[in-house]
Amino acid sequence: MPRQLFVTTALPYANAGFHIGHMMEYIQADIWVRYQRMQGVAIDFVCADDTHGAPIMIAAEKAGQTPQQFVADIAAGRKQYLDGFHISFDNWHSTDGPENHELARQIYRDLRDNPDGSLIEIRTIAQFFDPEKNMFLPDRFIKGECPKCHAKDQYGDNCEVCGAVYAPTDLIHPYSALSGATPVLKDSEHYFFKLSDARCVDFLAKWTQDGKLQLEVANKVKEWFSVRTNPDGTQSEGLGDWDISRDAPYFGIEIPDAPGKYFYVWLDAPIGYLASLKNLLGKRGLDYDAYMANPELEQYHFIGKDIVTFHTLFWPATLFFSGRKTPDNIFVHGFLTVNNGEKMSKSRGTGLDPLKYLKLGMNPEWLRYYLAAKLSARNEDIDFNAHDFMARVNSDLIGKYINIASRAAGFLTKRFEGRLGEVPEDGAALLHQLRQQSDSIEVLYAARECAKALRETMLLADQVNAYVDTNKPWDLAKQTGMDARLQGVCTVCIKAFRVLTCYLKPVLPELARQVEQFLNIAPLSFANVREPLPARHVIGTYQHLMQRVTPEQLDALFESKQTVATVEQAQVAPKTGSKPAPAGMPSNADVPGGEALAPTIGIQDFAKIDLRIAKIMHCEAVEDSTKLLRLTLDVGEKDETGQPRLRNVLSGIASAYRPEELVGKLTVMVANLAPRKMKFGISEGMVLAANHADEATAPGIYLLNPWPGAQPGMRVH
Ligand code: 2FM
Ligand code: ZN
Repeated sequence: MPRQLFVTTALPYANAGFHIGHMMEYIQADIWVRYQRMQGVAIDFVCADDTHGAPIMIAAEKAGQTPQQFVADIAAGRKQYLDGFHISFDNWHSTDGPENHELARQIYRDLRDNPDGSLIEIRTIAQFFDPEKNMFLPDRFIKGECPKCHAKDQYGDNCEVCGAVYAPTDLIHPYSALSGATPVLKDSEHYFFKLSDARCVDFLAKWTQDGKLQLEVANKVKEWFSVRTNPDGTQSEGLGDWDISRDAPYFGIEIPDAPGKYFYVWLDAPIGYLASLKNLLGKRGLDYDAYMANPELEQYHFIGKDIVTFHTLFWPATLFFSGRKTPDNIFVHGFLTVNNGEKMSKSRGTGLDPLKYLKLGMNPEWLRYYLAAKLSARNEDIDFNAHDFMARVNSDLIGKYINIASRAAGFLTKRFEGRLGEVPEDGAALLHQLRQQSDSIEVLYAARECAKALRETMLLADQVNAYVDTNKPWDLAKQTGMDARLQGVCTVCIKAFRVLTCYLKPVLPELARQVEQFLNIAPLSFANVREPLPARHVIGTYQHLMQRVTPEQLDALFESKQTVATVEQAQVAPKTGSKPAPAGMPSNADVPGGEALAPTIGIQDFAKIDLRIAKIMHCEAVEDSTKLLRLTLDVGEKDETGQPRLRNVLSGIASAYRPEELVGKLTVMVANLAPRKMKFGISEGMVLAANHADEATAPGIYLLNPWPGAQPGMRVH
């Protein structure tokens, strides 16, 4: 029997489009789900809009809509993000759907009627009431003067100026943020989930500390069993009861046998996981109760670290004491910051708008790859950094992986009708090693250690590229009598590319699909990639699989003020798109490197340019520039005191190289170029690099690198 998994991500509030933090969570979960599916595991992967609560009700009113219309409009906008980033949810539903109403009410009844004693208690509490709006006010909608620092217009739960935490009733001159009226204190009956009940405490103490949760999560949760912070900032011992009701008017689910009382949004939100699953099963004509009764069913929720309490205390207790299955695990991730900026805010997001990213035509798999290259199984925060993004995509994903196919496929197609040949012995050893790594990469994906899985995969890609560099198919192609060797070397590359594609497939599903088509093979899985391709297999024609990220795209994404204008001053700036051919010249496709040769010069002209071997002593990214790297070069010069004089050169090669790759390498520089003052400092020369004028024809920027033996300072003639 294959394993049966039920997997969710947290349900987003239905008050806005997605921000990049949502997409990170969906991508993380999707990679794990796709990996499991490749292993033959049966998975139902669902999500839904979290629709209820006072803020959404109020936002709908402001928009002149019913809450139902408001959340329906938000729901209609979800698909473009989910399809756009290849998120493979099986279902998207709503917590306002009939399944959730029914399930939430039934779960509540089961808690209330627990045979060992009810877990629900009704208490009367005093709360602020808006006499004009005729409603109890949520904390966020009461404002007033901070009781500690006397800052004006602070929220009812904490002060943004001095950070004090207090109850709304502590505010000086409180007013309703909805009507401006002074709220009055009014008694109301509230329904509480008795989390402090000894049965709950015992159950949760075990459930949270039995080793399933991430260690850092389990440790944090442990603290809540001994001390908790009350709404007024004071501290109490142990778990407190949980207020699960809100008074009408409220957009939510009415509590059974309690007219005018609604479930607090956080009671019915996680039940929305089950409701979405039930809705999916209904579409398939399957029985929800039978599905949930499967003792082998595994249930997992991916969430952010800000909602751990709800998922490790309230949610398992709700399920357990209503006689239901509890989750097998909760996978908690950290926050995403952008360009070292502020933490993701639920409502504001950051400067990286996922929809804008897609509209700019940026490849969704770049983002999937980049985030995967940073994600671990821990709940640590990660940063989206534009430089790092460009370097990882261009130099790792394209420079190391895609290039393997582009270096080999052409020879096979042109010279051997796409037919694979015999694998030479050295190639067989390499392929064996690649396949051997499968076990360890599988373990890493299963453990959500995406960054490590990608690191191992890229190290393998390095080995394949080293094999290509050693065997130089481009030289073999020029030699007579070397056809079999050429075909063999290219065969190794293509077979290696197939294995690497399998290892990357959970992260890059669309690319893998294109590769499967190009290689003419069945969908890749970790099981079938161990089987060799049939002898004399014929591959299709290679089409360029992935473009490189350009600095202009990142500039546009962040609407950076530092745009192409400043970057154009950079030396060796990569060109994107063909330059038009001068009149009367052949089209660019017919000229070397995509651009016509410059007019002839005499040797005297050339002699004016002093080219020197330079050693890259240090290299770093340039803050606020996506294009430039700052190089510190040794060209063998000394200052008046006899100390080495180093040059500072700004070079537009950030899309092709990571700074650490270049340190210690030799290159060639124009040493007598007049120093130029640029926005990011003075550049004292220029390093030489090659690129095709048309990025799409031949991607990449290639820094010149002398043969071994050259020393810093030697002149290049
Ligand atoms: O924090 C949030 O964005 C909530 N809407 C998450 C709900 S997760 C689940 F419980 F529904
Ligand atoms: Zn204050």
